[in-house]
Amino acid sequence: MKSLFPKEFLWGGAVAANQVEGAYLTDGKGLTTSDIQPQGIFGGNVTRVAGDFNVKDLAIDFYHRYAEDIALFAEMGFGCLRFSIAWSRIFPQGDEAEPNEAGLAFYDKVLDELEKHNITPLITLSHYEMPLGLIEQYGGWGNRKVIECFERYARAVFTRYGQRVKLWLTFNEINMSLHAPFTGVGLPHESSKQAIYQAIHHQLVASALAVKACHELLPDAQIGNMLLGGLQYPLTCKPNDVLEAMQKNREWLFFGDVQVRGRYPGYMLRAWRDEGIKVEFALGDEAILANNTMDFISFSYYFTGCASADPYEYSRGNILNIITNPHLPASEWGWQIDAVGLRTLLNLLWDRYQKPLFIVENGLGAKDKLEAGGSIRDPYRIHYLREHLLQVAEAIEDGVEVMGYTSWGPIDLVSASTAQMSKRYGFIYVDRDDEGHGTLERRRKQSFFWYQKVIATQGASLAEPVQE
Ligand code: BG6
Repeated sequence: MKSLFPKEFLWGGAVAANQVEGAYLTDGKGLTTSDIQPQGIFGGNVTRVAGDFNVKDLAIDFYHRYAEDIALFAEMGFGCLRFSIAWSRIFPQGDEAEPNEAGLAFYDKVLDELEKHNITPLITLSHYEMPLGLIEQYGGWGNRKVIECFERYARAVFTRYGQRVKLWLTFNEINMSLHAPFTGVGLPHESSKQAIYQAIHHQLVASALAVKACHELLPDAQIGNMLLGGLQYPLTCKPNDVLEAMQKNREWLFFGDVQVRGRYPGYMLRAWRDEGIKVEFALGDEAILANNTMDFISFSYYFTGCASADPYEYSRGNILNIITNPHLPASEWGWQIDAVGLRTLLNLLWDRYQKPLFIVENGLGAKDKLEAGGSIRDPYRIHYLREHLLQVAEAIEDGVEVMGYTSWGPIDLVSASTAQMSKRYGFIYVDRDDEGHGTLERRRKQSFFWYQKVIATQGASLAEPVQE
């Protein structure tokens, strides 16, 4: 068997603080946008009423069980764990002058555990949550004040953990602010495009300032951006559909263009002009963006979609206003499965940016069944992951530089879009349901042993057929 992946390839998994930690008010943590969205990231801006149930309040209790969970990741052979820091553990209201020591201490312990097992940390500074205080006090990212607060937070964690964390990401799926503005930039869901793009501009400046701080404070670390890789195909070969697909892809590639190339692309300036959007730049913003670009590009990959110049096609579309592809199967949640699209996307990003790429999320959300005796057979998940990883190998053969692969949700966690526990991604089963019942006990699924072998053989075992 020949290994398909380079020796230094980082294998692992990815989680986010608000989807695993729980302990939502422990050790001085402040409330976040996620804490008041019990129905998930598209749930809009809600006011939390005392007694409301939010499954994320406890999530899978990683806050108290991180050592057990990291030991299980180590047993699978993880070389890397991507996780996020909850900003509001470090700055509970977001604008304090000094960080919260108890919050900082928690991630010290997580890092100790990772070090013990020789697992490289990859930290996301902000994954779908921000301190609620920054919305109450300043109105979220629409206000430049938040840039300063974020920079202070980034500097605090770089200083504290920089000796042992060499891989960083700024904002998770930064392009999602266009679809979930409350989650992304702390703005009301009904905000105008003008307001959303202004807030996005502030966030892009903050991201560049975090790059600057990282390079200044940690010269041997690398920092990347994080995009939702929302590849879209033309629904037909009609030239206008092809053009429409290009425009739709630019809606998300635009973020990469600013973060990697360091300037706003002409097509976006034109789109703003056409729509009468005027984004205000402060003196110096352009230089900040130009001088502080990303070392690498990371992205999530779950599904592709189609674009059409015919508005009628959209009336039949699904999530995120994309049209269903008639040639692809879908998950139980309607996400269309497209392994080949991952190779296409890797090549597209490589051709466009010529920067190393890191696949920091990919996986299948599915309902699992606990068999009598406690085992969980999940060949569907193995099929999904195997097909995608084989396409990653193809892209590597194509000459694309791929740093690693962290599958989403190596342990079952709370879904971001639906806030369900039953949408499971893990190699490790967690005994908890959507209503919060369960012992939280962890169990190894069939896919646990499969992934363990993939890692141990550096991908060579992907050649083997899946055991049904
Ligand atoms: C990505 C997010 O969009 O997709 C994760 O970065 C999220 O936070 C993942 O969990 C899967 O989505 P969902 O909605 O199935 O949890």
